[in-house]
Amino acid sequence: MFPDGTGPSADPAGSHHERRIRSFQPRRSRVTSGQRAALRRLWPHWGFDIDGLRRIELAELFAGDAGGSGDSSAAAPEPAREARPVVLEIGFGMGEATAEMAAADPDTDILAVDVHTPGQGNLLRLAEERGLTNVRVGNGDAIILLREMLAPESLAGLRVYFPDPWPKKRHHKRRLIQPEFLDLAAGPLRSGALVHCATDWEPYAEQMLDVLSGHPAYENTQLDSGYAPRPAIRPRTRFEEQGVGKGHKVRDLLFRRR
Ligand SMILES: C[S@@+](CC[C@H](N)C(=O)[O-])C[C@H]1O[C@@H](n2cnc3c(N)ncnc32)[C@H](O)[C@@H]1O
Repeated sequence: MFPDGTGPSADPAGSHHERRIRSFQPRRSRVTSGQRAALRRLWPHWGFDIDGLRRIELAELFAGDAGGSGDSSAAAPEPAREARPVVLEIGFGMGEATAEMAAADPDTDILAVDVHTPGQGNLLRLAEERGLTNVRVGNGDAIILLREMLAPESLAGLRVYFPDPWPKKRHHKRRLIQPEFLDLAAGPLRSGALVHCATDWEPYAEQMLDVLSGHPAYENTQLDSGYAPRPAIRPRTRFEEQGVGKGHKVRDLLFRRR
């Protein structure tokens, strides 16, 4: 869609990484003209492909352009900032909740990752409209990002809101939150980092509670070792609205990296 390299690539970690189980499903939703324009204008500055080929320096990423594709005329690099907390959000969808949280907490940088092109355009557009400088958008599989591109102890938090529930038994292996994922995330997450998950799919909530509670690198912030009350900082997301509309109960989980 962006053959001149000014936008997200179709499959950034493509053939140079072994076949892996994907936790996302292909979606063919249309990119609107507004989203396309935002991608063209802002991707070179605030977006990056998750190609698994390089280590990302988070302080640099948030200090200036993310894409590094050459033209820096549209957004001048900001002066170097003190190291700030960076929170990774996996699967931001259309990005409304991400933009909301970034605006509410300008002292935290949000590394927002998804494979969904319309959502990437939408989040970039929202960030520009709201004057947010603390959001960067990664295109590709968060597994590759965690495994290949983030330094140990570089993240102050992890957010996974309404990940694809993969309800059929034969698809359970595609669920994101499982022990192997938690092993991977434990590397970039620093001690004390908060891991915040939410889902409206009860069997997945049970799985999340089970695997997080059973993993030695994480501890439940809740005294009763159960689900957390919904934290005020988490806005309602688009998928949450749909789940609630179907009568689903929403569960939040708040764990801490030991
Ligand atoms: C069900 S949607 C939820 C979106 C949003 N959080 C919300 O609540 O509205 C899950 C999102 O996670 C993304 N996703 C799933 N696995 C991913 C992965 N491994 N890396 C990046 N994004 C992923 C999907 O593309 C999808 O946009």
